[in-house]
Amino acid sequence: MLDVLQKDVRNCRNDFPSLARTVSGKQAAFFDGPGGTQVPNQVIDAISLYYKTCNANAHGPFVTSVETDETVKLAREAMAAMLGAPGPECISFGANMTTLAFALSRAFSRLLKPGDEVLVTDLDHEANRGPWQTLASHGAVIQSVRMTADGTLDMDDLSAKLSDKTRLVAVGYSSNALGTVNDLLHIRRLTRAVGALLIVDAVHYAPHFPIDVQQLDPDVLLCSAYKFYGPHVGVLYSRRGLLDRLPTDKLRPQDDDAPYRIETGTLNFASLAGVTAAVRYIAAFGSGGSLRERVVSGMETIHAHELALARRLYDGLQAMKHVRLYGQPFGEELRAPTVSFVVDGVDSQLAAKQLAEHGIFVWGGHFYAMRVIESLGLEEAGGLVRVGISVYNTAEEVDRLLEVVRAMQ
Ligand SMILES: Cc1ncc(COP(=O)(O)O)c(C=O)c1O
Repeated sequence: MLDVLQKDVRNCRNDFPSLARTVSGKQAAFFDGPGGTQVPNQVIDAISLYYKTCNANAHGPFVTSVETDETVKLAREAMAAMLGAPGPECISFGANMTTLAFALSRAFSRLLKPGDEVLVTDLDHEANRGPWQTLASHGAVIQSVRMTADGTLDMDDLSAKLSDKTRLVAVGYSSNALGTVNDLLHIRRLTRAVGALLIVDAVHYAPHFPIDVQQLDPDVLLCSAYKFYGPHVGVLYSRRGLLDRLPTDKLRPQDDDAPYRIETGTLNFASLAGVTAAVRYIAAFGSGGSLRERVVSGMETIHAHELALARRLYDGLQAMKHVRLYGQPFGEELRAPTVSFVVDGVDSQLAAKQLAEHGIFVWGGHFYAMRVIESLGLEEAGGLVRVGISVYNTAEEVDRLLEVVRAMQ
C-alpha cells in the first residue's frame, strides 16, 4: 500500500532512526549521502518483516516461497515505476552496481571483435570504467573522453572519439565527485548515429532526479538502492530484448530470459523488500495516482529541498577566501546537490576528519572517481571534500558545517 498521507520534507527526520546518533555530545549530521544514504523505518521494517514472516528460497510450492516470489515481483515493479521502464522484465537485481557492470562486461567480451572500440569518460566513477576497460584484454580499443576544468564532459572530445567502430559507450548520468549532470539525450543521439550501445551509470543521479528510461532510451542503466534510502542492492535496467541475447554467465537451470539471465544465485530477498519500501518512501513525498506519478513528483519535492540547501552551502563556501569550489556553480544547468571543495593548505581527507570530530560526516578523497581527481590535479591536495545533501538534511546542519570550515583558515 502506498502511504496515504503525503510526506513533508520538513518532518521526515523522525523516519530515520540513525539521525539520533551523537558524536561527543554533538548531533550527527549526515552529509555522506553520495556514499550511501540513511535508511528510514519504513525500509528497515520491510526488511525485518520479510525475515519474520516469509524467509524462504524462491519458486517453491509453500506459502513462504510464494510470498518470496511476490516480494521479488513487487521490487521489480517498484523499480520499473521509479525508472519509467515499460515492464518489470526490464529490471534485474544484483549485489551492487559494480558487480552487475562486471557481469555485463564479461558478457560483452564474448561479442566484441578485435579492433572494436569502447568509450568511457574521465568524469566517471571507476565502476563505470574498470569493467569496460577489461574489454581491452579481448582486443577492444578503449578510449576515455576528457573532462573540462569546470567538471563537465568535453563534448568535442566525445564526438571526435566516436566512430563507426565504437560498439559501447559507458557514461555517468551525474558525477559523484562534482555533481555534474551530463546531457544524456544529446549523447544518446550521438551513440545512436554510430550504432553503439549506451550504458548509463545513474548511481549518483537516481537519488536526486526522476528518471525516464523510455525517454532517454539507454541500452542499460544501472543504479544502487543504498544511495536512495534503500538497502545494498544493485539495480539494472535493460532495454527490452537486449539481455535475452547477451551471453551472460549463467547456470543450466537458470532462466534464459530477461530479467533472470544476469541474476546468478539467490537474490537478497529481504533487501528487495527494502527496495520496494524505498521507492514507496520517495513516492510518499509526491502526489498523483500511479506509483510512477508519485515517485516522479516525490523526487521533485525532494530535489527542491536539496537544491535550496546545496545553494546555501555553495554560497556560504564561495564567500570564504580559503576555500576553492570545484564543479559547476548552481545556475541554470541541472546539477546534483553535491558540493565539492578544497580548503587551502588542508589535506581534504584531514578536513573530512576535522569535520567528523564535530559530528559532521563528509567524505574526503577521490570517492572512486579517480580520473576526476587526476584531471583536476588534486592528488597532492588529498582529493576533494565532498558534501552531499539528502532529504533529511537541514539548513542548521549546513550552517554548522560552514562554521567548522570557516574556522579552518
Ligand atoms: C557514480 C557511482 N557509480 C557507481 C558506484 C558504485 O556503486 P556500487 O557500490 O553499487 O557498486 C558508485 C558508488 O559510490 C557511484 O557513486
